[in-house]
Amino acid sequence: MQTSPHPLDPLLSRRSTGALEDPAPEGADLDLILEAGLCAPDHGRLRPWHFVLIRGDARAALGDCLAAAIKARDRQAPQAQLDRIRAWALRTPLLIGVGARIRPDHAVPEIEQLLSAGAAAMNMLNAIHLLGYGGMWVTGANTYDPKVNAALGFEAPSRLVGFLAVGTAKTPTAGTTAPAGRPDRLAHVVEWRGALR
Ligand SMILES: Cc1cc2nc3c(=O)[nH]c(=O)nc-3n(C[C@H](O)[C@H](O)[C@H](O)COP(=O)(O)O)c2cc1C
Repeated sequence: MQTSPHPLDPLLSRRSTGALEDPAPEGADLDLILEAGLCAPDHGRLRPWHFVLIRGDARAALGDCLAAAIKARDRQAPQAQLDRIRAWALRTPLLIGVGARIRPDHAVPEIEQLLSAGAAAMNMLNAIHLLGYGGMWVTGANTYDPKVNAALGFEAPSRLVGFLAVGTAKTPTAGTTAPAGRPDRLAHVVEWRGALR
């Protein structure tokens, strides 16, 4: 039986993937992805989100920065761990550092400024998928490391909310309907009628 495409199919079929290769989005495609980030909801028009593009030779510098941060946190960090993080930065076609320039004394609470940056990251992930590229939101201890944050322009109280690893998925990640493996809707949704039992 032929079923017609549903407008939400592209949204429901998004999957993350870290198995990426060239090409990365650039030019008009990259502009659109960044524009999608700028469409994130934002309480108070604070525009807290900022995006740092890391590509080409800068990826080696990012790898060095991440490895140095690991080493500074743990002098005993094995060389293999440092090599792995450098290799990850080098092989990822495009990295987008997503952060929030936090205004701590603003009436809009910090959590809302951070959530807005998270929404920008999600909008970009969806745009990456809708344009036929692959991506994944990655954090880990380096995302919360003050030295890494400072290197990317997010001195406290501003902060990174993560990196988007972006490129072309090595294997297709999307079908045309919600993929298997998504949680049961009923486990996450209740109808509130005044009291939960
Ligand atoms: C804020 C945030 C941080 C994440 N950090 C990592 C990470 O550091 N490493 C990782 O393997 N997955 C991380 N993930 C999970 C992946 O980005 C991805 O969502 C997960 O693999 C599930 O895939 P899906 O998006 O297709 O459901 C993170 C997700 C979020 C929302």
